[in-house]
Amino acid sequence: MFPIRIHDLRFEPNGRVVLDGIDLELGGEGITLVLGPNGAGKSVLLRTLCGLVQPTGGRIDWGGGEPPKFGVTMVFQHPMMLRASVLENVALALKPHGVGRAERQRRAAQVLERVGLAPRAAESARHLSGGEQQRLALARAWLTRPRLLLLDEPTASLDPSATAEVERIVREIRTDGTRILMTTHNLGQATRLGDDVIFMSAGRVREHAPVQRFFARPSSEEARLFIQGELPWRMNF
Ligand SMILES: Nc1ncnc2c1ncn2[C@@H]1O[C@H](COP(=O)(O)OP(=O)(O)OP(=O)(O)O)[C@@H](O)[C@H]1O
Ligand SMILES: [Mg+2]
Repeated sequence: MFPIRIHDLRFEPNGRVVLDGIDLELGGEGITLVLGPNGAGKSVLLRTLCGLVQPTGGRIDWGGGEPPKFGVTMVFQHPMMLRASVLENVALALKPHGVGRAERQRRAAQVLERVGLAPRAAESARHLSGGEQQRLALARAWLTRPRLLLLDEPTASLDPSATAEVERIVREIRTDGTRILMTTHNLGQATRLGDDVIFMSAGRVREHAPVQRFFARPSSEEARLFIQGELPWRMNF
């Protein structure tokens, strides 16, 4: 599946340019942070990678092979919770993989331990807090051992301790061998988690650089202004 090579990817619904010719190469390891202002096309890029959005031009080369049937999973900012228990919500992820019910539940219980939700397994998933639902969604994704995990602002509405917990889980999923592509508006989080940064604006990739270099010496003026604009309020505390 890797390297994933994206060539001149375009998404122009009704003539409106949303993705304006994306070229990218993604190797098989690490955590890549996708940064950029609102409306830059970050979420749409992630959606094209998991097949939720059909690009109107360009192509994605999956390591020279076919697009993977399984192996790419996306977690949204507000994950869907079925009207069922925490355990069932996680276990269901294995159903399309042909895993039997008892084994699904056993593996779901295991992954709930790893995200700290084991004591809540029997509760209704819809009664969990936002941070807990995000951990459930990560558990549900982790369970299927995706090769590529797409995370769209997984900590956007979480408090600092829930955010730290999600960051811990994301690191563990990476350590388990999953490639991660993640959007965030939290630049501190980008420096804590990221190996490299993709900076987007107006449907284009303006920069793809190792995280330290991106923040220390952004090569584009746009990225420099973006970092400057985001950082002052973060450092006022
Ligand atoms: N299916 C679609 N059809 C038409 N336009 C879309 C579609 N999905 C997204 N857009 C538009 O594409 C643009 C980029 O949206 P996207 O959600 O990718 O931005 P983003 O970079 O994720 O921004 P944010 O930081 O606010 O999440 C927006 O103007 C949005 O309205
Ligand atoms: Mg978005």
